[in-house]
Amino acid sequence: MSKRFYITTAIDYVNGQPHLGHAYEKVIADVIARTHRSFGEEVFFLTGTDEHGQKVQQAAHAEGKSPQEYCDALAAKFQALAAVLNVSNDDFVRTTQPRHKAVVAAMLNKLHAQGDIYKAPYRGWYSWKEETFLTDKDRRPDGTFDPFWGDVKELVEENWYFRMGQHQSWLIGYIEANPSFVQPDYRRNEVLGFLKSQKLEDLCISRPKARLNWGIPLPFDPDYVNYVWFDALTNYYSIPVALGDAGAAAPLGDYYQGPTANLQPALWPADIHVIGKDIVKFHAVYWPIMLKAAGVPLPKQVLVHGWWQKDGAKMSKTTGNVVDPIAVVNEWGVDAFRYYVVRELAIGPDGNWTDAGFQARYHAELANGLGNLVNRSLSMLQRYRGGVVPPRSDELAAEINPFSQTVKTSLAQHQLQPALQTIWAIVNRANQFVDQTAPFKLAKDPAQAARLDAVLYNLAETCRLLAVLLHPFLPETAQKMYTQLGLAGAPDRLTLAAWGGLEPGHRIGEPAPLFPRRDAPRH
Ligand code: ME8
Ligand code: MG
Repeated sequence: MSKRFYITTAIDYVNGQPHLGHAYEKVIADVIARTHRSFGEEVFFLTGTDEHGQKVQQAAHAEGKSPQEYCDALAAKFQALAAVLNVSNDDFVRTTQPRHKAVVAAMLNKLHAQGDIYKAPYRGWYSWKEETFLTDKDRRPDGTFDPFWGDVKELVEENWYFRMGQHQSWLIGYIEANPSFVQPDYRRNEVLGFLKSQKLEDLCISRPKARLNWGIPLPFDPDYVNYVWFDALTNYYSIPVALGDAGAAAPLGDYYQGPTANLQPALWPADIHVIGKDIVKFHAVYWPIMLKAAGVPLPKQVLVHGWWQKDGAKMSKTTGNVVDPIAVVNEWGVDAFRYYVVRELAIGPDGNWTDAGFQARYHAELANGLGNLVNRSLSMLQRYRGGVVPPRSDELAAEINPFSQTVKTSLAQHQLQPALQTIWAIVNRANQFVDQTAPFKLAKDPAQAARLDAVLYNLAETCRLLAVLLHPFLPETAQKMYTQLGLAGAPDRLTLAAWGGLEPGHRIGEPAPLFPRRDAPRH
């Protein structure tokens, strides 16, 4: 069985409600997943929730719930968000699932048996009130700790460490030899800059159960739980193993007791981990070293996106400066949300959400641009030709085909924002074509019947191509366009984006507005 294209998102902490950043990351990963399906590849797309650790334990306690009850409620919200966003994930991992925990335990056992995990004392400043170690960075300018932390005392505690530091020079060499491992380039350079300027320490991977019990127990020391990036990062690998990707499980040998038969096509190694800029070090340093030590092949790419602000400021619940993605979808539709976040921001730089910017793009690009093109093209075909596609005309083909090709090239390189810009070059050209040819005037002159046929064919065929090209981005809209064109099935294969697919004599369906204007007074 051939390997599937395997793409993941970060798994979200359940210590708060889903927000714009979570929604954005799922959408860009979804567009890439759908793009690969449109190219005819088999895809496996994983997203999920990160449920262990101190903050979750505290948040559960604050709500008077058990940690598991609390996680169940929050995980349902994150799953609902994915559904609302029309995210096409094939599975949803929760780090509290037994299938995940079994693989984490196997990884820990193997590394422990190899001598890659050892116990050592840790000395630090401990806040009993907040149940966390503090560092010198937490001190105020006068050297004291904020009263928020309560009583802070020096504490010596034994913990388990993963031998990470010894892989530092290997990792530098690996990243230099594999420039696509961390993308965009400036993120790779940041990682290399860090690795070349600082000594990589071993990684503390445990907490004593006396302090934290909401975690995966260390299989070789019942007094400790695993903490917490080791557990979280392993999700990307645990699910392929748990689903029966025998090649993925092989390096774990007898340490893993789950299914060993090939139950489905190979997934591992992951092709892309989509993550935000704040967690690059974990994915581009800790994770490859963990895998290397365990003898597991490395993922092909860590793709790093930027962060959204709102109105030029960090989003914050306390100040109410947030974008609720579900509220936006309820008011404007899922594809308006998907369009805005992908069109506004390339994968890499930071972005700034403004309601005015969102509404401006909605009206100019979706309502007046795409929506108006499709609506007037199909309405005129209904009105002037009874909805029957006229004889084929290739007048716009020479202009549109190169655009389609550019879109496909951008998609193949995961250049999502440039792909949308080129798709809108098609939209704008077609709207201009309506204005230039004035079909409503041609319709008044029987001598112009053949000319009107040609114009209507070119417009309807352009709408069909747009449905195919838009499908990874705006799946619901693309499907509506297909249905309005009277076409069966889904516009979900890029091979359909070849000029001339619309058959003369075919009868289209009923046009209906795709993106109603929302700024005019409604009567
Ligand atoms: O970091 N704009 O979870 P998380 C864009 N559980 N992206 C944002 C964002 C913003 N304003 N805020 C957060 C975690 N993100 C860990 C991940 S993976 C093995 C474990 C992104 O809920 C953030 O960069 O804090 C991350 O990629 C994702 O949302 C989840 O963040
Ligand atoms: Mg975070």
